[in-house]
Order: sequence, then structure tokens, then C-alpha cells
Amino acid sequence: MNEPRLIQGFDFLAPFYDVLVKLFFGHSILKAQTHFLSEIKNAKTVLIFGGGAGRLLIECLKINNKANYCYVDISSKMIKQTKQKTRHTSVQFIIGSYNDIPKQYFDIIITPFVLDCFRQNELTDQVVLMLKIRLGSNGKWLFSDFNYSKKSTVANIFSRITIQFLYFIFNIICGLEIIKLPDFKQAFKQNNLVRTKHQEFRNELLASSVYCNR
Ligand SMILES: C[S@@+](CC[C@H](N)C(=O)[O-])C[C@H]1O[C@@H](n2cnc3c(N)ncnc32)[C@H](O)[C@@H]1O
Repeated sequence: MNEPRLIQGFDFLAPFYDVLVKLFFGHSILKAQTHFLSEIKNAKTVLIFGGGAGRLLIECLKINNKANYCYVDISSKMIKQTKQKTRHTSVQFIIGSYNDIPKQYFDIIITPFVLDCFRQNELTDQVVLMLKIRLGSNGKWLFSDFNYSKKSTVANIFSRITIQFLYFIFNIICGLEIIKLPDFKQAFKQNNLVRTKHQEFRNELLASSVYCNR
């Protein structure tokens, strides 16, 4: 991964990221991200990794404003946007990646449309591994991301074209150098995490799951 390019790209996108997402996907991305959000109700510690420009944090705070939140994002501009939207809250913001997560356990870990920024090897052997180490023994991991639809041939082709198009754009702007979604299920499985809940949206283009320690 070319980290400076990645940061530069997401910094560039930050001021209008939420508007762009709304324009392309309406409310469905936020719907997928928040589908299992009631799981955070009684959490004391919540990690949001790759949270973006702040829309999700606002929804989290509506459900639970007593928890200690840790918000990690590689883009300082994404964090700046988030801070502006959530001015009166005490959230620990960290500009960084999975190696910069504080050494503590979290009741909830949220990865909203960020694991698609990693290649399979890095995702399995580093990202999911490092995050799993921070998940409390009864903790829950709320995952949401894109998905290759299996609903029908048309839906499958549509999902592939959409995801290909998004990677095309993100490869240009952020230098991701990725051409297909990693196998998320495999990355969780190899790290001994089990899926307990699952829901798909938009003809299975988007998916949301809850994972727990085995
Ligand atoms: C595709 S955006 C999704 C943003 C937000 N979660 C949403 O769904 O609207 C990916 C986010 O993850 C962040 N990100 C990408 N790679 C990262 C990494 N290695 N470590 C931490 N954050 C990362 C980006 O800065 C960006 O905010």
C-alpha cells in the first residue's frame, strides 16, 4: 500500500465524502452501517475503525452517548470533518491505522466500509488479527461492506460492475491498487471469528454482519 497517496486521496475526498455517498447510494450505505447498531446500546468501550467523515458516529451517539469511543482513521481531514459534526462529545480521535489502536479491549468494534481498502493477505494476517486482539472476550464486531451479489445473474453482474467502478475511482484518487473485494468471510474465519448475524441490502450489493470470538 502506498500510504502517503492513500492519505492524500482520502484527505482530498473528506470535505464532500458524505455528500458523494448520498448522491450515489442514497441512504443505503448508512442503512447497512446502522442495521445492527442497537448492539452498542450497553457497550462501555467502542472502537470505530475507518469511520470516515462522521455520519456513523452521530448515529452511534444517538444510541449510546455514555460509552468511551475511540475513532481511528488514517485521514486527518476525515477526522476533522467528524470533529466538526460532533463538537460536544468526548471521543478519542486517533489519526492512524490498525497499528495505532490503543492497547485495550473494546466491547464493540465497528469497521464500516473500510476493510475493502486492504488486500487479502494484509486483511487476514494483519488488520483482522490486530483488531481481533482488541476485541473483548464477549465483544461484538459490526462489519459492513460491499458484497458480490448471488441473488441473480443480473444482480451479480450489477454488483461486479458497481464495485469495479468504485475501485477504478478509488485507485485513481487514493492509489489503492486493488481490483476486487477481498474475501471478508475467509479473513474472519481464519482469525476464529464467527458470524452471528447477517443482512444484505440493495440486491445484496451491501452486507452487514455481526462477528464474535469463537
Ligand atoms: C471508503 S471510506 C468509508 C468511510 C465511512 N466508514 C463510510 O462508510 O462512509 C474508508 C475510510 O477508511 C479510512 N481508511 C482507509 N484505510 C485506512 C487504514 N489503513 N487505517 C485507518 N483508516 C483507513 C479512510 O480514511 C476513510 O475514512
